[in-house]
Amino acid sequence: MQALDLYAKIEEYLDFEDEVEYLYKTIGHIVLSKNPQTLIDIGCGQGEFCHIMQLNGIKTFGVDLSKKQIEIAVSKGLDAKCIDIKDIKTTCDCATAIFDVINYIPKDGIKQFLQNCYKLINTGGYFIFDINSLYGFDTVAQGTLNIDKDDKFIAIDANFKEGVLYTDITLFNQENQENIFKKESGTIKQYCYSNEELSSILSQIGFEVENIVNLNLHTDEEFDKQIFICKKG
Ligand SMILES: C[S@@+](CC[C@H](N)C(=O)[O-])C[C@H]1O[C@@H](n2cnc3c(N)ncnc32)[C@H](O)[C@@H]1O
Repeated sequence: MQALDLYAKIEEYLDFEDEVEYLYKTIGHIVLSKNPQTLIDIGCGQGEFCHIMQLNGIKTFGVDLSKKQIEIAVSKGLDAKCIDIKDIKTTCDCATAIFDVINYIPKDGIKQFLQNCYKLINTGGYFIFDINSLYGFDTVAQGTLNIDKDDKFIAIDANFKEGVLYTDITLFNQENQENIFKKESGTIKQYCYSNEELSSILSQIGFEVENIVNLNLHTDEEFDKQIFICKKG
């Protein structure tokens, strides 16, 4: 999970705060309208969404495959663990997977992953997540970005090929007072899913797709994200 830990190290420099805040607000309203007592946030990252839901009176548990992300979430006093979702022992009224998490799951593992999500949710409960649209991958996400700080340099190069977004990350981090920088690099892959493809898998598993909401997160031109609201009947 080296690339996921690398992402955890650079996340705070990416300047997505406004977009993420808008996404949390939108998904937060949907979650609260379902009135859950308990929530599991899958791919919780540094735990910000868990924190917001806790402030709204919901008992939360976050899981992520990146040790580094979970270290940060736990340091904020949140209940979070670095475990695979198949090893979670509790269930909840609502599960969430926010800000690209579902796009991280490869095509050959998506059905099993969604089945594991289904098992986590109490009957009548909800699974709410977002995915990037094709426009989001093809037009918004592709490109390069360099971030130059006093003690670090970050280079990001994202290319979308045959339904997969390859994001190459290189981090040079100054480890001590001398001018010696340690280099780390890795590639994160995100897989593009169509509505039809996901809706079909979700209904095979037993979810009812109640609604799919289009979202213009990064641009006004065309929707770049979609939010799935699924009920376990
Ligand atoms: C873009 S980040 C979003 C994090 C968080 N949800 C947020 O809103 O900031 C995607 C997260 O998904 C996590 N992730 C990727 N694959 C996962 C998996 N199979 N199970 C759990 N977490 C996963 C990554 O480690 C990363 O923290």
